[in-house]
Parts: sequence; structure tokens; C-alpha cells
Amino acid sequence: MADLSGPAPVAVGAAVDGKAVFNGQCVACHQATGKGLPGVFPPLDGSEWVQGDARTLANILLHGINGEISVAGTTYNGAMPAFQQLGDAELAAVASYIRSNWSNKANSLPSTLFEQERKASSARTKPFEGGAALKALSDKSN
Ligand code: HEC
Repeated sequence: MADLSGPAPVAVGAAVDGKAVFNGQCVACHQATGKGLPGVFPPLDGSEWVQGDARTLANILLHGINGEISVAGTTYNGAMPAFQQLGDAELAAVASYIRSNWSNKANSLPSTLFEQERKASSARTKPFEGGAALKALSDKSN
């Protein structure tokens, strides 16, 4: 019988499986290979956005993107949904998973980063308008 009970609530401090979050929320577009779909869904494997500025990645996941963004030399103009409905621990787990899976070798991210960025960006009601809006975000923090 199908399990319709949904995901179990995550206890504070409990380890969340980033791969499971990825398979539940991201794989349909970005694919299990992390390579996306040419011209439609950008790759996470080898992406400068995934392995780069941690705050920027946190904001991509919290708010999504709707506009032009260049990823690993190719320009995309699609729509990345927001994942605000996920908890800080789930977002940290999936971010850490994509930063260290496939050929990616970036450090993992703490759930406190998502907690902070969620508060700091609470005025934003729309997805980021594209790569330029995201770059402006990391310029501001530096
Ligand atoms: C409905 C399809 C869809 C889903 C589901 C989705 N994405 Fe995306 N994602 C996109 C698209 C399309 C873009 C590019 C946005 C644009 O062109 O404006 C993108 C961009 C990104 C980017 C920045 C560019 C890059 O390729 O590095 C990251 C990081 C990312 N997504 C991570 C995720 C993660 C993590 C999940 C799951 C929690 C996820 N996405 C779920 C479609 C999706």
C-alpha cells in the first residue's frame, strides 16, 4: 500500500538525508546525473552557482529564479521554483549534497545559514530576476 503519511517531521538537530531531498524535490528537472537537460534545465554538476557563494545558493533555493542566468557557459531562461516550504535543515542537507556530489567539491553548509538568509530576505516575495540580480546579492555582502 502507498504510504500517504508524507515526510516525517524533522527533529531539531536530526541528520537529514540530502540525497533523499534531492530525489524528492530536484531530480525531475536537474536529473540524477546533476547534468540537467540541455537548453532547458541547467546542470548542478560543475555549476559555479552551486559551488560558489553560499549565501547566493541559499537565496536561490529560498526564492527561486525567473529570468536569464548563465551556468557553466550556457544561458538559460526558465523558471526555478522557490523551496521556502522546506525547513532549514532540509535546505542545508540538499545544498550540502549538491555541493559535494558528482564532480563538485565544495564544503557543506549549516542550517543556520538558511535560518539567517530566510530572515534577511523576508521582504522578497518574488523569485530572483536572473543571474544579474543574484550577482548583485553577493556583491553587496562583500
Ligand atoms: C521545475 C524544475 C526545477 C526543479 C524542481 C528544481 N529546479 Fe533548480 N533550476 C531550474 C531552472 C529552469 C533553473 C534556471 C532558472 C532560469 O533559467 O531562470 C534552475 C536553477 C538552479 C540553480 C542555479 C543554476 C545552476 O544550475 O546551478 C540551482 C543551484 C538549482 N536550480 C538548484 C535546485 C535544487 C537544489 C532543487 C531542489 C531542491 C531544484 N533546483 C529544483 C529548474 C528546477
